[in-house]
Amino acid sequence: MPINYDRAVGFYDATRGYREGVVERYRDALFDYTGADVSARILELGIGSGLIAGAFYPLAPQYVGIDYSLGMMRLISNKLDSGLPPLLAQADARHLPFRAGCFDIVQAVRVFHHLPDWRACIDEARRLLRLRGALVIVENIPPDGAGQPPWAIVQDKWDEILRGLGFEDEGIRHGIWLTDDAMRHYIESTGGRAEPADLLRYREKPVSPRVMVERRAAGMFSSDWRLPEAIHQQASLALRDWLERDCEARDTLVEREMLFRALIARW
Ligand SMILES: C[S@@+](CC[C@H](N)C(=O)[O-])C[C@H]1O[C@@H](n2cnc3c(N)ncnc32)[C@H](O)[C@@H]1O
Repeated sequence: MPINYDRAVGFYDATRGYREGVVERYRDALFDYTGADVSARILELGIGSGLIAGAFYPLAPQYVGIDYSLGMMRLISNKLDSGLPPLLAQADARHLPFRAGCFDIVQAVRVFHHLPDWRACIDEARRLLRLRGALVIVENIPPDGAGQPPWAIVQDKWDEILRGLGFEDEGIRHGIWLTDDAMRHYIESTGGRAEPADLLRYREKPVSPRVMVERRAAGMFSSDWRLPEAIHQQASLALRDWLERDCEARDTLVEREMLFRALIARW
């Protein structure tokens, strides 16, 4: 069963949105890299609330999105001043309701780390691509060698608190970060070529340790959604207590530098 993002509807855009112009720059970088343009038939896996799609549609009129969460996709229509939304379907990325070979680009931004069954999703994307079409798997990650922002300590503290409460499962809490060798090797084993590409460097919106603590306590991280409610509450109390007592940089706002790091595959 895919992760249920309906619970993020109330806060997703406010906490995961980009600065103005970032998504448009990502779109242009993607077109430059792949040679595609606005006439391309593009499928977005895990379109969510349309934060990425907004830069592509209606400029690229043949844009199609799927997501498992109906709640997230409903946010897309709230954003439209007028006109029709892109074609949308509720679907699991492992089994998609489209015929073979009908897309030039299949892209997934900030989605693959949620997919335990990522090989099946790659196979399905490959089925949908026309010859020389591209699968573009993107995660937002910091550049190699970037220093830790002050608020990164909140994650470490949270992990420490959870460990103290008997929760050790790093995999569930941190997701599967796959723009790496494992995925590249899999693509090559299916006869494809996969190239990593840093499509865009950008600055996140400013965040402080206090902001991160409050997001954590409010259940805004999907990595915490499987925690029992009582454990989540207890850990949140401990985290707030640590913030007030021991975190000197608690209100320092920092804009972290990040990448749209892509793995681009063709068969
Ligand atoms: C972090 S959000 C990213 C949304 C959008 N791509 C963005 O960057 O703002 C992850 C999205 O992937 C969707 N998702 C997760 N697993 C899925 C699956 N197996 N099939 C379809 N959608 C899935 C979630 O419902 C959620 O909307």
